[in-house]
Amino acid sequence: MEAIGQVLNAMIEYYAGDVRRVNHFLKVYGFAKAIGEAEGLEQETQKILEVAALTHDIGIKNSEIKYQSAEGTYQQLEGPPEARKLLERLGFHEPLIARVCWLIAHHHIYDAITEIDYQILVEADFLVNAFEAQLSGPAIQSVRDKLFRTGTGTQLLNTLYGGRIAAESK
Ligand SMILES: [Fe+2]
Repeated sequence: MEAIGQVLNAMIEYYAGDVRRVNHFLKVYGFAKAIGEAEGLEQETQKILEVAALTHDIGIKNSEIKYQSAEGTYQQLEGPPEARKLLERLGFHEPLIARVCWLIAHHHIYDAITEIDYQILVEADFLVNAFEAQLSGPAIQSVRDKLFRTGTGTQLLNTLYGGRIAAESK
């Protein structure tokens, strides 16, 4: 089995019974993969992005168990060790694991995004969260204008939410 498929299956196992969380990371993975490919990422960066998209919310489970909260600050603590265990078990090499763990710890921080894998992960997560959180058109528009930088991510956002943005900004 391909490495990405192994991560996908391991994450479904990790969130067994929690269909909402599984659906969330599958959607983020789909958008991240599509944006990364369209933006022409190098092979290793694309792989890092796809693994990070599948595992980015791995910290929520232990955060909710330990702190009854899914706050980003708890996820930053709880996510990376769990991702490391899972990825080491599947035989991933250290540079990839280290980068994925860093992305997991930082995916809630929007003010210092400089690398393309980080940028695309945040865009893909927002494309899903805008729907799951039922954000208003103006709220989506504001995030698009402040946060989105890739042409592909922006185009996806407009395709999905352009109608809502137009309807609610009248
Ligand atoms: Fe997420």
